[in-house]
Amino acid sequence: MLLSKKQPSASATKWIEKVKYQKHKESYSYFTFFLNNPKFRYAAFLFVFLSLWFLLQVRWFPSTRTSQLVTQTTSKSSPGKCNGDVSVYVYVLPAEFNLGLLHDCNQLNVYTNMCPHVANNGLGQPLDNMDVGLGESNPWFATHQFIAEMIFHARVENHPCRTCDPERANLFYVPFYGGLHVSSKFREQNHTIRDALAVGLVDYLQVQPAWRKNNGKDHFIALGRTSWDFMRTDSGPDFGANCLLNLPCVKNMSVLTVERNPWKGSNQHGIPYPSYFHPSTSEQMLTWQRMVQGSNRPYLFSFIGAPRKGVGKAAIRDEMIKQCMESTQCRLLKCDHGNPKCYNPSEILKVMRESQFCLQAPGDSFTRRSTFDAILSGCIPVFFSRHTAYTQYAWFLPEEASEYSVYMDEQGDESKRIQEVLMKIPKEDVERMRATVIDMIPRLTYAHPNASNTDLGFEDAVDVALQALARHVGNIIL
Ligand SMILES: *[C@@H]1O[C@H](CO)[C@@H](O)[C@H](O)[C@H]1NC(C)=O
Ligand SMILES: *[C@@H]1O[C@H](CO)[C@@H](O)[C@H](O)[C@H]1NC(C)=O
Ligand SMILES: *[C@@H]1O[C@H](CO)[C@@H](O)[C@H](O)[C@H]1NC(C)=O
Repeated sequence: MLLSKKQPSASATKWIEKVKYQKHKESYSYFTFFLNNPKFRYAAFLFVFLSLWFLLQVRWFPSTRTSQLVTQTTSKSSPGKCNGDVSVYVYVLPAEFNLGLLHDCNQLNVYTNMCPHVANNGLGQPLDNMDVGLGESNPWFATHQFIAEMIFHARVENHPCRTCDPERANLFYVPFYGGLHVSSKFREQNHTIRDALAVGLVDYLQVQPAWRKNNGKDHFIALGRTSWDFMRTDSGPDFGANCLLNLPCVKNMSVLTVERNPWKGSNQHGIPYPSYFHPSTSEQMLTWQRMVQGSNRPYLFSFIGAPRKGVGKAAIRDEMIKQCMESTQCRLLKCDHGNPKCYNPSEILKVMRESQFCLQAPGDSFTRRSTFDAILSGCIPVFFSRHTAYTQYAWFLPEEASEYSVYMDEQGDESKRIQEVLMKIPKEDVERMRATVIDMIPRLTYAHPNASNTDLGFEDAVDVALQALARHVGNIIL
């Protein structure tokens, strides 16, 4: 049931998109034609009846659905098959824009030494304290939250939809490690120096023949940090951002980022933060999904996070910590004073696997990696801002937020009595939501970049992003 749900849902999305685009053109007249013709009316009735019957089957007999879908998955993985009209060309950039930056990995972030984190194509160090045996290759890594750009790069390089012929490509990937670079320059006072590499990238791109063909509209970058780090404003406070996403050339491109600017980011598309699980096979994925499905969850809810200094964002965090401490049904993992448990992935996932709901307070920005750790653990996320997920990851999340999450506005009354609100949700609803959350795991996971195309057998975050991007670019270029 778990994995393969992506098949129907991927095509369903495509279908919905298609319908949306055609709606105004043709469907209205077809529809009236059908209604006015008795023969067709009967056929339509029969069709609707059968569809409903089928839906009921799927709903009411989930176990049948399980076994069915697992078989589908196994048969589906044909060797190196590229799905979804994607043909992606990967620029071979001068090393200064990506791999060359890694030589100074201890200088890449003003707060941390990134050397352990950039290892293994950005997966980081293997984790051997995960108490789950998942076959021969270990899929667990202590992955850094801001490293998606490296994993994305490694995965696309090895992707069945990659083409080496720019003439045949419908997508052009510019593998710039912009997040790693910007965090190495946070303390650079001179803006010219801070922006230099971004400006250099744009100079490089604009003279490329492939750029000129569509003014870069079919080009994209993927960034492991939030868009705020690349959108310095003259009026706002200077927290170290550069100007990358404000450059006219980059505005013509699509920008994949772990957090988009909901107001000025029309060319920005949210991609998941990487969590710790990077499976190479659908077997590993299914084993994990079954494990979180069967997990015992004694806690109603949990919160993992640090109190924040300052007023605005701190308010909701402090409120949560207070409510969690007061509740016997809440598990709190408080991350102040460098609590080592907060840096231990197995500890974090354990807390989440034992909880039914995981509170997602906005952090330094709207989004949190923790949202993806929670989903990976089968823990239903509770959001307090629409910008923590709903306005961010449209390509990856079900359209209907209540299918997989709970929303309590941070200004509203519900967020003042979290336990009470969560306790009122009927058990069946909780189970349905959790099933949806567990079904979402594959699409939000970054598969191991070296996974063979034959074995992977499920669509991961990179597959979903490339397919959605190809549709999007197809629509803006035509
Ligand atoms: C992927 O394979 C290449 C070539 O065999 C190897 O150099 C690299 O370390 C592998 N990456 C990971 C993350 O294991
Ligand atoms: C910033 O750096 C550039 C290039 O090195 C230099 O020309 C400029 O004078 C510097 N600006 C300031 C304010 O120091
Ligand atoms: C961006 O695209 C527009 C066409 O939509 C084009 O006129 C403009 O020159 C492009 N900008 C750059 C920097 O390539």
